[in-house]
Amino acid sequence: MEIALQGKRVLVTGGSRGIGRGIVLAAARAGANVVTCYRQEGEAVESLKAALKETSGDHHVLRADVGEIAHVDQLLAETKERFGSLDGVVNNAGVISHIPFAELPADEWSRVVDTNLTAAYRVIQQSLPLLNQGSSIVNIGSRGAAAGIPLRAHYTAAKAAMIGLTRSLAKELGPRGIRVNVVAPGVIETEAFDTMPAERAAGLRATYAQKTALARLGTVDELAGPVLFLISDLSRYVTGETVNVDGGI
Ligand SMILES: NC(=O)c1ccc[n+]([C@@H]2O[C@H](COP(=O)([O-])OP(=O)(O)OC[C@H]3O[C@@H](n4cnc5c(N)ncnc54)[C@H](OP(=O)(O)O)[C@@H]3O)[C@@H](O)[C@H]2O)c1
Repeated sequence: MEIALQGKRVLVTGGSRGIGRGIVLAAARAGANVVTCYRQEGEAVESLKAALKETSGDHHVLRADVGEIAHVDQLLAETKERFGSLDGVVNNAGVISHIPFAELPADEWSRVVDTNLTAAYRVIQQSLPLLNQGSSIVNIGSRGAAAGIPLRAHYTAAKAAMIGLTRSLAKELGPRGIRVNVVAPGVIETEAFDTMPAERAAGLRATYAQKTALARLGTVDELAGPVLFLISDLSRYVTGETVNVDGGI
């Protein structure tokens, strides 16, 4: 089934690679106008711009490090200038690292919390004047936040906090007709798998596949689908939810 987002204006953070890229392209193909951002220049940014040109719609790929408050404010100022208003916001940009908690440096804690959580606070707050009645905010969490994962206490703490942020904002913004939900991915196979040695990628696939009911990892498109559903009017009575997209872990 195709979801129609004709004419909707959507901001997706971290759209140059991985899940964010999948959401940006799926939204654009469904008829949305999309603003997205990235941190590092490179081939991924250029190929995203080229792929967006193949779709109809008014799309903008901007450089902004969402870990920096000033960059977020600039991103929203540019979004206002280009779109005037928004119907959807997807807080997708995220970073992860694997470090024993006893050795976790304070600056790494801050980097991970700033990018995964504080960025969402600022993006949503600065989006508020732009959000139309009936608009939808989707925060990309992680299935691992509820499960807990060794070496990722900082990451799972930030992702678990997304759920509290989402529940509270669903109640605070609901009377304005703004919905707020979390999509919590399980293990989604992105381009990152292509950059690993083949043996390691195969090992990871096998390890994670046997944890899921569907006996396989998810694809970026399979994650983008539920996000598009939550942006669309099909989900207009869904708010404050965490949707696990994890193949049945
Ligand atoms: N893949 C999974 O299995 C999985 C599982 C659970 C949750 N998630 C969550 O899903 C989201 C996307 O994950 P992913 O696997 O697709 O990650 P990814 O492949 O590493 O892509 C991350 C994207 O976000 C951008 N980004 C990172 N930090 C940024 C910053 N400070 N400012 C602006 N853009 C930034 C990156 O751009 P640059 O290259 O320019 O940095 C890139 O486009 C994250 O929130 C992640 O925690 C993923």
